[in-house]
Amino acid sequence: MKQKLVAGNWKMNGSLAANEALVQGIAQGLNAALAGQQAQVAVCVPAAYLSQVQQLTQGSAIELGAQDLSSYEQGAYTGEISAAMLQDFAVRFAIVGHSERRQYHAESDELVAVKAQRALSAGITPIVCVGETLAEREAGQTEAVVKRQLAAVIHTNGHCISEIVVAYEPVWAIGTGLTATPEQAQAVHAVLRAQLQAATSHADRVQILYGGSMNAANAAQLLSQPDIDGGLIGGAALKPADFLTIIAAAAR
Ligand code: 13P
Repeated sequence: MKQKLVAGNWKMNGSLAANEALVQGIAQGLNAALAGQQAQVAVCVPAAYLSQVQQLTQGSAIELGAQDLSSYEQGAYTGEISAAMLQDFAVRFAIVGHSERRQYHAESDELVAVKAQRALSAGITPIVCVGETLAEREAGQTEAVVKRQLAAVIHTNGHCISEIVVAYEPVWAIGTGLTATPEQAQAVHAVLRAQLQAATSHADRVQILYGGSMNAANAAQLLSQPDIDGGLIGGAALKPADFLTIIAAAAR
């Protein structure tokens, strides 16, 4: 059976001291949270801390993720971080196309698709984020927006598409305390699943995560939906107890 994936997105938070306390807190509580059942757990950390968190997670079941990667392979791209550099730190996941990057760094659907391709060709699983803004939802465009965003990734990545993770993150729910209801989230996840099914016969094994104010109180209900295969967690991933509660809700 497909395991659920609970991935923390630390965003631009942390310090050497805070990271150590956070990872140790998660690692210490992980067995109790899983209670003999299974879930995948990852932390997507700022690039500056990949080396530190690689060391901190060694010997634990916590997998390492990055928050972005370059669409270029190497060369004169000041400030960029390549897939090969992430490989040096045994990075397992890389978030691509987070709405904060689409919004503040003008990342297009096509750029996000190429980033996913770079990750896949380096053996790194891209966590491809899609999601509509509040204005788009109110205009009835939710389905069209997420389908357009995923279509670009499918178009560029062909049969490799079954190797990605998708994260549905409604922009209006991120960091706002507003969460999509389980039914709202499930409806969009079903649309994404159907789109994947049209592209690959292995769509059922793609993990489709929900993200946007998922927390210790609402995780169990969201994660009980048939097409919600895990969570991409922002604020609640910075608190070991909350993150562990979400992991417990995901374990089965
Ligand atoms: P919050 O959980 O803080 O709303 O953030 C969600 C998110 O953007 C994860 O990538």
